[in-house]
Amino acid sequence: MQEAKRMQAFSAAIFNQMEQRKNQLLKKGVKVIDLSVGSPDRPPAPHIIEALHRSIDNLLNYRYPLEGIPRLYQAVAQKYQERFKVSLNPDKEILVLMGTQDGLAHISLAYVNPGEIVLVPDPGYPIYAGSVFLAGGEIYPLPLLPQNNFLPDFTGIPEKIARQAKIMWLNYPNNPLAAVAEREFFQQVVTFARRYNILVCHDAAYAELAYDDYRPVSFLEIPGAKEVGVEFFSLSKTYNLAGCRIGFVLGQAEVIATLKKLKSNIDYGVFKVVQEAGIAAMEGPQEYVACTVSTYQRRRDVLISGMEKLGWPVPKPKASMFVWAPLPWGYTSSQDFALTLLEETGILVIPGLAFGNRGEGYVRIALVEEEETLVEAIKRLEKNLVRKK
Ligand SMILES: Cc1ncc(COP(=O)(O)O)c(C=O)c1O
Repeated sequence: MQEAKRMQAFSAAIFNQMEQRKNQLLKKGVKVIDLSVGSPDRPPAPHIIEALHRSIDNLLNYRYPLEGIPRLYQAVAQKYQERFKVSLNPDKEILVLMGTQDGLAHISLAYVNPGEIVLVPDPGYPIYAGSVFLAGGEIYPLPLLPQNNFLPDFTGIPEKIARQAKIMWLNYPNNPLAAVAEREFFQQVVTFARRYNILVCHDAAYAELAYDDYRPVSFLEIPGAKEVGVEFFSLSKTYNLAGCRIGFVLGQAEVIATLKKLKSNIDYGVFKVVQEAGIAAMEGPQEYVACTVSTYQRRRDVLISGMEKLGWPVPKPKASMFVWAPLPWGYTSSQDFALTLLEETGILVIPGLAFGNRGEGYVRIALVEEEETLVEAIKRLEKNLVRKK
């Protein structure tokens, strides 16, 4: 069968190559330290599991969950009020998603006609570009460069492109870069989006994973943001609920209504048991979140200090669950380096090139293993790579 051309957007050759090599090594008995996928390795808090248990016995939860549970929407609205001082109308400005990925993948279908332009960060989380390809749109890359603190430079966007652009994707704290954005930057975003009538889609999946007292801001905190955009807010990382598939899109009411209309034709809502887990997560005690954050922070510190001692200095991320590491020891190809690393040490990371051309020269390391395993990773690096140089 001939696949549709749009499937080319998902060929992900680099990911496949790394996965194949990993499986070959596993077959040979190598203990692979997998720091590739940003999938939380810790369980959800006990009170969330209890809510799941209770809810699974409620036989009413097995009907089509066409609407979100009002209490869930209240809980998100309250969370945004308390955490970001952002007021949201639970009926009009919030939509529950099957994980934010659901909304990220579908929103272009609702707004982008074939051939229309979308501003997509490079490097960037792959579904932003994937979403544009699905809709038949054209990507205009926004280079995220270290000299600009990995923020897009709006002055570099030609007037003609800005006028034609339909959507601008943003993501802070960022995957894969672990970069953060401040209020002043988001103010510029609102001004730019207003001037050119662009829909801003801000992905805030890592808004709660921040270290050393740093607190990321929400795009929706900026006056006028709600008129030009939406924010995607995930429960996957904050509450270790990645497998449950629950997240939200918040903000511009018409956009929420349009996405709701599209999704009501594609799926019939999020399993109510999962929605109940979301309520428990947001309404319940938040100490577990602090605990999750400090776990990632300790892992970050162990890894970064170990790398530094090996002569591989990397910037310390303020947020996210990733380390964006420039290639060490004279390597220039992220793919070659990641393959060598896997072969020589059994450590799996993602080559930066997998996130776009501007990702070349880096690898992304996910902090998804316990500290002891990261210590082991440093030992392997020293023994099998550094000493061999
Ligand atoms: C930047 C970013 N956005 C969205 C997602 C998807 O999150 P969810 O589990 O809410 O679909 C991820 C997952 O890794 C991510 O890194």
